[in-house]
Amino acid sequence: MRNLLKHIQASIFRVGWPKDERAATKAMVSSITLHVHPPKVRPAALKFRASWALGIISLVLAGALTATGVYLMFYYYPHPDVAWRSMKDLAFVVPFGVVTRNLHRWGAHAMVAIVTLHMLRVFLAGGYKPPREANWVAGVALWVLTLALSFTGYLLPWDQLAYWAVTVGANMAGAIPWLGKPLRILLLGDLTVGEAALLRFYVLHCVLLPLLLFGFVGFHLFRVRKDGGLVVAEHDPATLNAKPGFRIPSWPHLVYREFLVGLVTTAVLLLLSLIANAPLEPLADPARTPNPAKAPWYFLGIQELAHWSAFWGGVFVPAVTVLGLAALPYFDRHMDGVGRYFPKERRVASTLFLLLMTFFAVVTVIGTLFRGPAWALMRWPS
Ligand code: HEM
Repeated sequence: MRNLLKHIQASIFRVGWPKDERAATKAMVSSITLHVHPPKVRPAALKFRASWALGIISLVLAGALTATGVYLMFYYYPHPDVAWRSMKDLAFVVPFGVVTRNLHRWGAHAMVAIVTLHMLRVFLAGGYKPPREANWVAGVALWVLTLALSFTGYLLPWDQLAYWAVTVGANMAGAIPWLGKPLRILLLGDLTVGEAALLRFYVLHCVLLPLLLFGFVGFHLFRVRKDGGLVVAEHDPATLNAKPGFRIPSWPHLVYREFLVGLVTTAVLLLLSLIANAPLEPLADPARTPNPAKAPWYFLGIQELAHWSAFWGGVFVPAVTVLGLAALPYFDRHMDGVGRYFPKERRVASTLFLLLMTFFAVVTVIGTLFRGPAWALMRWPS
């Protein structure tokens, strides 16, 4: 029996627990999961400041959202007559239903924020410059996909918040000249948010968008490795006294760090999900419009801009932002100061990008906290 178990173990784990550098390298190249990493890495890339761990946290969140999402799918029915009741069942009947829903909801909010911060970090370090241009563009696609996944998931509880947030979001899409109306109908399957929209959002949220996300994540990680790992300064203090090209084994140095980040991320998310419940408003009522009706928080900046001008604020600024981000590496190609945050050679680019992010953060805060009935400005957070 012991022999059989050993045989089974050896058939799966071809190399035992690595005890020296040679075994560690062999383990890294022979395992499908570890092979995502290079066998050795530059010491500078292991420093926390090189990544702020944001890419790995995004990855862990994507994994947690997939696992909890599959569990939720066992109990959820995408029809207006029963969707909201599924949420109540999760709260009162389904084993671990409340905590799974909380994990999924808080994880989704966290993912939008963390992926955006990861983009900011990569920008500030100049990680979009050669040879990483294509990976940056894949990153922009991942950012849009993350927002789309969050938006499509928003409708599924079929409560007042979900219904009206998605109605506002769909109206914003409808403001696009020429394309807006057909796009809105394609998205909703009807003129208003109803049965067809719920089914479409469900299929997009559970099948199409996750498939695209995982396809892009696979490409993204492959490219991180092929483009030489994280972007770090040529003369980083971590390698100052080392020979040029000096590397240290990924096992255990990188793998253990990633494992630790995974544990901390999961623990924080779990703790949050145990102390705070995801809200559920009353059943969606198409006849009772809340005043004001607000989009999900990450679109409230755009809703605020759309309040000033439906086309310029709601369509032009977001479209130019996404297209501009994707085109950036093909215009800004100077390599000076790459791998450092706020180097004097890139002060203008860093300041402009931070100003853009701050602008979106400010309009988001105004839209979220300072807009009351009829979208009037409030003196205090509403
Ligand atoms: C689902 C979303 C995403 C996941 C799971 C993800 C994951 C990762 C991981 C694990 C790394 C290497 C380690 C690290 O940087 O922490 C990385 C690097 C990178 N990411 Fe992402 N990422 C995502 C979104 C984005 C976005 C939105 C952008 C930019 C628009 C981006 C651009 C890059 C680039 C250019 C690199 C390589 C350069 C460098 O890290 O210095 N990623 N990503």
